[in-house]
Amino acid sequence: MRRFLLRGDESGLAAALELCHCLRDVQGVVERDGELELWLEGELPALDELSVRTVELTLPPAGPTLTGFEHDAAILVDDGLVVRPPWVASPAGFTGLELVVPRGMAFGSGEHGSTQAALLVMTALWPSPPPARVLDVGTGSGVLALYAQRRGAAAVAACDVEVEAVAAARALLCSADVRLGGPAVFAGERFPFVVANLDARQLHAALPELLARLAPAGTLVVAGLRPTELDAFAARVPAAPRLCRERLGYVGLGYVGLGGAELGSPEALGSGA
Ligand SMILES: C[S@@+](CC[C@H](N)C(=O)[O-])C[C@H]1O[C@@H](n2cnc3c(N)ncnc32)[C@H](O)[C@@H]1O
Repeated sequence: MRRFLLRGDESGLAAALELCHCLRDVQGVVERDGELELWLEGELPALDELSVRTVELTLPPAGPTLTGFEHDAAILVDDGLVVRPPWVASPAGFTGLELVVPRGMAFGSGEHGSTQAALLVMTALWPSPPPARVLDVGTGSGVLALYAQRRGAAAVAACDVEVEAVAAARALLCSADVRLGGPAVFAGERFPFVVANLDARQLHAALPELLARLAPAGTLVVAGLRPTELDAFAARVPAAPRLCRERLGYVGLGYVGLGGAELGSPEALGSGA
């Protein structure tokens, strides 16, 4: 295990974190203003193209109780929402909603900007009374579906193309309908609230099925786009988003009333990627 400090602007740090997640086994992340502390196995990947400065820090003395999880932190998504693994205590005095998600093999510990952007948009557009049914496409750990359950959705459905993610989400979510595959595994069903945190190309591929799963007056939340990918996405979707939130270089968008809408050219999305 090695420990590195990265300093730079928000987009440089977000790109560095993404690269580290892709290329290394990241064991812990502590985010502070303008810097990231990363715990990972092996060397940092080459970050020369990014405007970040890096320095290796010394490790605290190893002891029989060092597990590698010590530097996991509770992530304050907003004033009323925290995501944390079970072995991290609640922030002192916090009285809001806590999503307790183990950091396993599936994406979705809450540390990634796209997860946080999705949660911010879900929070801002969460209907009252809560939706009867919610679909989470690309559920990963199940973190967004868990949010829906905790906010009172009567029934939660989720899907992911990865077997590990389906297993993680089933373990996390009691009484949810979690299926292996894309949104087509819920063919014929319509949901008043659909959320999907996918990258731009996955969103491009899934968009027709996402709209087909959405009830006519339903709410669609998508996250995972970079700001440079927004124009191409907007050109494809026949309505302006009701809401847009950015976190750590990733954008979340919320749409209302898109169910059954006609889409623009599929080539448009991803051209900015
Ligand atoms: C960025 S992660 C999001 C995980 C979690 N929902 C979160 O917000 O942290 C994207 C997940 O979508 C899955 N995925 C990619 N394409 C998919 C598709 N077409 N249908 C369903 N799942 C997909 C991946 O396996 C991955 O687990």
